[in-house]
Amino acid sequence: MQTIRLALIGFGNVGQGLTEIIADRNDNFAKQFGLKFQIVAVSDIYWGSVYDPDGLDPVRLLGAIQKGEKLATIQAAEYGWDATTTIEQSGADALAEVSFTDLKTGEPAAGFVRAALKQRMNVVTSNKGPIALHYPELSRLAAENSVQIGFEGTVMSGTPVLRMGSEILKAAGVNRIQGILNGTTNYILSRMEDGTSYADALAEAQDKGYAEADPTGDVEGFDAAGKVVILSNLLMGTEIGMDDIERSGITHLTPEDIRNAKIDDRRWKLIGAVEKDGEKVTASVQPVPLPVSHPLATIGGATNAVTFSTDLLGDITLAGPGAGRRETGYALIADLIAIYNKA
Ligand code: HSE
Repeated sequence: MQTIRLALIGFGNVGQGLTEIIADRNDNFAKQFGLKFQIVAVSDIYWGSVYDPDGLDPVRLLGAIQKGEKLATIQAAEYGWDATTTIEQSGADALAEVSFTDLKTGEPAAGFVRAALKQRMNVVTSNKGPIALHYPELSRLAAENSVQIGFEGTVMSGTPVLRMGSEILKAAGVNRIQGILNGTTNYILSRMEDGTSYADALAEAQDKGYAEADPTGDVEGFDAAGKVVILSNLLMGTEIGMDDIERSGITHLTPEDIRNAKIDDRRWKLIGAVEKDGEKVTASVQPVPLPVSHPLATIGGATNAVTFSTDLLGDITLAGPGAGRRETGYALIADLIAIYNKA
């Protein structure tokens, strides 16, 4: 049995989702993979920080939050470490970087990832900022330090779109990727079709934990654009950035636009796309009134879907959850298992 000592930077929805999965499934993981996950440190800007070399009880960590209490209320060896101290002092084998996303600079998360890689910790993250903005540098740093960085959760949460694209479809030659990459906007558009107002639908998406801390990133298309950058650079060998995406969000769509599309047998979907023609790369995020017969038009609610167009296999579509605490927590577990199962 191998014990994997984890440090978590961030204890919001995703950090808590990961902790729930560990609390519920650690025995299964031990039987299935011979791996046991032990959380030794959690550092969160709001909930506070705890460290214990003998491991923190995941049920107690979650219990404190459920009661609205800070993490300092649970039994631990050390309290109050900031993110950097946690990375440097916890002696963890792996860092789960799940702090807030910033798609302008990728910081401070990218700095935490760099520090962990330099400490020879493996890193798993669902944070789009560091990966969309600094992936070449971070993957080089991981290789230099003989560790790995897993980021399946940055696109479509636990739905294995990156693994499918980078491992299973790699040889098939991916020439175009199109998808519904943001759960919040797809949820809002689906609810507006049912007659719910934009404001109520957004509030519901926030309640359900789909939306970013600042939902502007969702509704203006920045979140989907970050995912297009990640998909394109990882799966199509490009080196594009956020500024290379032609982007518009859903805020200008009116209830009337939605009703008119319905009359026309169409549905508005926020579509992220990237296409490569020789050296020319075209990437965009924009609302498109798809005919209801289109495979992506059938995807409702917070579900995401991606269609890969390939040279050898034609089109392959993968649909599944694109957001949510457990769904994204699962991506981190899947990355950890992929790293340690072959070690
Ligand atoms: N806010 C994002 C969404 C979360 O709604 O899809 C997952 O990146």
